This record gives sequence, structure tokens and C-alpha cells, in this order.
Amino acid sequence: MLPGLLRRTVSLRSNLRTALQFQQVKNTTSCRNLSTVCCIVGTTFDPSFTPINQKPKRTMATYSITPPSQELLKPIHVPPKTLMGPGPSNASDRVLKASALPILGHLHPEFCKVMDDIKAGLQYAFQTKNPVTFAISGTGHAGMEAALMNIIERGEVFMSAVKGLWGERAADLADRLGADVRRISKPLGEVFSLDDIEKGLKEHKPSALYLCHSESSSGILQPLEGMGPLCKKYNCILIVDTVASLGGVPFFLDELDIDLVYSGSQKVLSAPPGTAPITFGPRAIEKIKNRKTRVPSFYFDFEGLANYWGCDEGPRRYHHTAPINSMYALRESLAFLAEEGLEKFWARHKECAELLYKGVEDMGLKMLVPNKDCRLPCVNTVCVPEGVDWKAVTVYVMSKYSIEISGGLGASAGKVWRIGLMGENATKENVERVLKALKEGIESVKAGGK
Ligand SMILES: Cc1ncc(COP(=O)(O)O)c(C=O)c1O
Repeated sequence: MLPGLLRRTVSLRSNLRTALQFQQVKNTTSCRNLSTVCCIVGTTFDPSFTPINQKPKRTMATYSITPPSQELLKPIHVPPKTLMGPGPSNASDRVLKASALPILGHLHPEFCKVMDDIKAGLQYAFQTKNPVTFAISGTGHAGMEAALMNIIERGEVFMSAVKGLWGERAADLADRLGADVRRISKPLGEVFSLDDIEKGLKEHKPSALYLCHSESSSGILQPLEGMGPLCKKYNCILIVDTVASLGGVPFFLDELDIDLVYSGSQKVLSAPPGTAPITFGPRAIEKIKNRKTRVPSFYFDFEGLANYWGCDEGPRRYHHTAPINSMYALRESLAFLAEEGLEKFWARHKECAELLYKGVEDMGLKMLVPNKDCRLPCVNTVCVPEGVDWKAVTVYVMSKYSIEISGGLGASAGKVWRIGLMGENATKENVERVLKALKEGIESVKAGGK
């Protein structure tokens, strides 16, 4: 009956409701049909309208709709900023363009090829032959959760080497997993020696140890030489966090003999936040295979992820929908790393950091970490001088130069500025810009300006 109805209603489009009532629309004409007609004739459908002889029905359409935010209807505004805090760092146009490519299905062969490229790129970045090397869908915290959830079982002893916020964070996650958490600690700005770690291993006998390579809260680079074999000797799985260092400092995973390492995309790799590289060595895999209980997370489950990433014998199966476009971006950032080459990448970060140290010293300021060899070149901690409002300086630097530098985190809060030199942003020009902005900012704040 609709075509006939339509012909006659078009002529009465100014008052559709009357038109339809005039035609004695039968009860069989559903509200959905009426709505369709209204769309065709270009008038609005009144949901409270009930055809004659039909009882009013309460449907979804009878609820009033809360209007959307007016702000949402304006164009998105994203000002350009130079991100020289502890992360994220700026992404190159190449990486951003990659993330705007068409979406593919999560098991399409072309996307599986992107995943394979990422695996190879990460094996290069980590300097490992570990076949189980891929990217978790999530930020650095997701990498941390994936590592801990797969390795630790309830009641097991987990030791966290705490020298800043990230060691505490690992202890917190392990505690949530029901582990028997033990801490060994170092004061702000100091690193663990092999002796410190061995003492802890002897005393606590942990089944896993967390060690942060790049303690970005204090600007510490933890030496890792000898830590892998030491943990092996005590039958302990070594988990290393390289979120703020992967690509920025020399790192040879296989030589170091580390069991499990994870990182983040948004720091030295200069990809958008949201993907977390991870690699599992043979001892980590054996520990996971011998678990007495199931991994308490589906999303981070080793087996499902390893299969989806094509790291086992079986055909790839759906595990979750990977953030497709973020993976394109990660792929391109790894291609960029491979093109420039790790040695040049590392050297560029070191040169920029040296330039920064000199500029900081020339200003009469001090770096938090006294030993240069233990400074993380990617996130540099500059001591805030007595009586200077650190926050006001960061506000000045942002408002005048659109440069982000950040304050401390955890125990370093209020004591340092953190200046990131990572990936795209690790250039001499940026170091000069940030030094100039910092100097001006301090002078302005000291002079009473904001
Ligand atoms: C060393 C370290 N680990 C873990 C994280 C957590 O990463 P995300 O913020 O990407 O979750 C960070 C972030 O700054 C970090 O620096």
C-alpha cells in the first residue's frame, strides 16, 4: 500500500500528519513506514502521532533526545606544539599520514603484512631474534600489564627494583595480581648495581624481577650488563621496561640475555600513543607455558596474542581488533628507524643530550643525575633552583614558545624539570630552542612575571 499512499501524500507535504489521517491509514502501517515516508517527502515525523484506531505505544522514538554539545559541532582545534616533555613526542608527517590510510580488516592479508613488518622492525629495534615479538594494543602501561599478567601467578614472589615511579607502578600492578611483592630501593637519581640486585635475589628469591631501563621520572638510565645471567642463576625471570629508551640508547636484548622486554610507541619511536612493543624470550615463554593457573586477562593472554601476531604454527585467528591505523603509524616509525639506522639514532640522541647538559651548566643549573653514564638521554632531569616556581616556568615556555617541558613525577615532583629529547624531536635546533625558552622562563619568573 505504500506507493499509493506516497503519491497522495506528496501533494499534501505541508501537513503530513493531516494527510495521513485523512487517508485513514490502516493499523498495519508501522511507525517505521511512516518515518520512511516522512524522509521521502522531506517533512519531519512526529513520533507522538498515532494512526487512527491504534493505541498509543511507548517506543524509543517517544523519548526526547538530549541535544549534542555545541562545542562538538565546531571544527576540532589542535594547535601545533613541540612536545619536549617525557612523552608523547611529535610524530613526523610521514607517520601521521600513514595513520590516515584506509582502514583494513584485522585479518586481511595486507594488514597481516603490516603486522609482519612491525615484528621485523621491533626485532631490529630490540636487537633480538625472539620470534615472539609484537606490539600490544595499548600504551606502555598495557605492555607492563601484559608482561606481569603472563609471568606472575597469585602468591608468587615478585621483586620490584624501585628507583622512581615506574618501579612503584610495577609493584602496584603485581600486588593487584595477588603476588607476594618485595621491593628493593635506591634513592632518587641512583641506579642498581649487580651486587644490589644479587643481594635482593638471595634475600627474596623472587620468580620475577622488574627493572626499569629508562626511569623517566628521575631521568635514570639503568645499566643492564650482567643482569640477565644473574637472574638466570637465581631462576628468576627478568622483566625490563624500555618505554622511554627503546631506540634512544644502545640496547642488545639477545646479548643482554633478558627474558621479557616491553616499550611504548610514543616516545623515541615518535609514533602516536597506543601501541606497546613487547618481546618474550625462551625462559619467559617456558614460565608462561608451565603456569598452574590461567592468565587472568583475556586481552593480554600470551597465547591468543602470539597466535594473532603469527608467532605460532597455527593459522592466525581473531583475538581482538587491532588498532589498525595506529599499527600503520608504528610500522612507519620503525621503517624510519631502520632507514636512519640504530647507530645514528643512538648517536643523535647522545649528541643532543650532551648539548643540553652543556647549556644547562652554562645557565648555572644542575642535572639531577650526577653520573653522566647513568643519565637517560631521552628524558633529562634538570634541578629546579631554590625559590623558582617550576610550574610557572613550564607555563611561560608553553605560552611563549609552544614548547612542552614537564615537572617531575613521584619523588622528583617539584624538584626537577623533565626535558624530552626523543625521536623526531632529538635535534640540535630543538635543544637550542628549549634552552633559550627555559632561560627566559626562569628569568621571567624570578623577575615576578608569569
Ligand atoms: C618508563 C615508563 N614505563 C611506563 C610508562 C607508561 O607508559 P604509558 O603512559 O604509555 O602507559 C612510562 C610513561 O611515561 C614510562 O616512562
